[in-house]
Amino acid sequence: MEALYRKYRPKNFDQIIDQLQAKLVLQNAIAKDNVSHAYIFTGPRGTGKTSIARVLAKALNCESRTDYEPCCKCDSCISIDKGIHPDVIELDAASNRGIDEIRRIRDAVGFRPMLGKYKVYIIDEFHMLTREAFNALLKTLEEPPSRVTFVLATTNLEKVPPTIISRCQVIEFKNFTEDDIVKNLLQVSSKEGLKLLEDAAEFIAKRANGGMRDALSYLEQVASYTLNGPITVEDVEKALGLVPHDVVEKYIDYLLNGKVSQIDGLIESIFVEGYDIYQLIQLAIERMEERISKSPSKELLTTAQQLIEISKELRFAENKKVICKILSMNLAIAHQRPSEQQPKPLKQPDQSAASVEPIQREEKVADKPQLEDSSKIEETLDWIKKEGDLSIYVALVQSRISQKGNTVEISFLPSQRFQYEYLREKVLDLEYSFKTKMKKDVVINVFIDDQREKRILQKLQENFPGKIRIEE
Ligand SMILES: Nc1ncnc2c1ncn2[C@@H]1O[C@H](COP(=O)(O)OP(=O)(O)OP(=O)(O)O)[C@@H](O)[C@H]1O
Ligand SMILES: [Mg+2]
Ligand SMILES: [Zn+2]
Repeated sequence: MEALYRKYRPKNFDQIIDQLQAKLVLQNAIAKDNVSHAYIFTGPRGTGKTSIARVLAKALNCESRTDYEPCCKCDSCISIDKGIHPDVIELDAASNRGIDEIRRIRDAVGFRPMLGKYKVYIIDEFHMLTREAFNALLKTLEEPPSRVTFVLATTNLEKVPPTIISRCQVIEFKNFTEDDIVKNLLQVSSKEGLKLLEDAAEFIAKRANGGMRDALSYLEQVASYTLNGPITVEDVEKALGLVPHDVVEKYIDYLLNGKVSQIDGLIESIFVEGYDIYQLIQLAIERMEERISKSPSKELLTTAQQLIEISKELRFAENKKVICKILSMNLAIAHQRPSEQQPKPLKQPDQSAASVEPIQREEKVADKPQLEDSSKIEETLDWIKKEGDLSIYVALVQSRISQKGNTVEISFLPSQRFQYEYLREKVLDLEYSFKTKMKKDVVINVFIDDQREKRILQKLQENFPGKIRIEE
């Protein structure tokens, strides 16, 4: 079966969605017989550059053109649509980067068109040409033969030498809006006899990032997956292997309600099921955006912003699962209510959280580690943050670090078992970092300090005699 995006490639200007600048400039030039000898079509993937280049080629060679519109029925139009017209030459510079191809064009360019009126050279991804090839192309553009038009298409205009740009007319292609994509998806579906629900179309459009080809390819994937009945959001999720809706909702719920240990479990199971962790965060950001546009709040905005930070960290990371867990749990902790931050066995019958606070601080002061090299330790942390492994850094800042002689002690609360286990595996890396930065031999000891909670409780009991009971 022909791919949907090819089947629904626009054949004339009328079928081209959006891209108003391109249409306006080219329609005028064709109608007034004032076509430039070279155009640069620049813009994102799947926005119609190749399609419009072919429409232009057809219009220039059509045997019965009306105004600017090719007939799409004559021999010339049909052979261009089939890609077999001898005067319309398409070249993919991504696979033919070298000078030979361009020399061949330069040598052939002077000859008159074989069948039609115009020779049209369409060079795709032409920013990929080598320097020599660019120079050869430049020569051709400097002395343009009549009845020849170049369409140079690129997704990366910044990689094109300015000398080339200055000799061409540049036409910009824009990403499609989600509305444009939804409309087209619904139209193509109905022509194909598919019942695509509107929210499923919206969901596909979001995935397509402004490109029409990807949108149609997703639709095709989903259609071949769905047997009968209307296509729903769930069908799209399944066909594209996306993290399911309710799992993303759960993740957001755990984040916003400070359910730290549930996040650990959730990310673990997403990983085990083979879903993409990076995509979880992308979907969560999308959901947050929906929530924010319904009822904006500082909390949602801050959380969304932090999710964006997580997604940036994950993008090129190798150990996505670990980084995602640590950063997400850290984010969830910030959403815990004060009562959840107290050690679990603690009962405080008539003490408000506020009155407990100073004692905790006191405990911290009393317990404050004697850091002979405290500034060096800070420096090491900073260094790990900037140069080293971010997930190690995040785990470290949640720990308590103290130093006894040559031993650096890194301790966690029992509730921080995950961070503890992660750092234990990284002891050698840690030792290396601390040794280098502190300029002395150190031993790293990572452990869970279950006495620390007890000490806090004891202090509480001493300060509030009879009011605090410890449940075993
Ligand atoms: N403006 C548009 N109107 C209607 N359909 C479009 C449009 N742009 C793209 N499409 C759809 O996307 C498919 C791919 O478009 P096209 O090959 O023209 O994109 P492109 O900009 O050349 O992409 P690339 O940069 O990846 O080469 C088309 O076959 C068509 O189905
Ligand atoms: Mg193209
Ligand atoms: Zn024609």
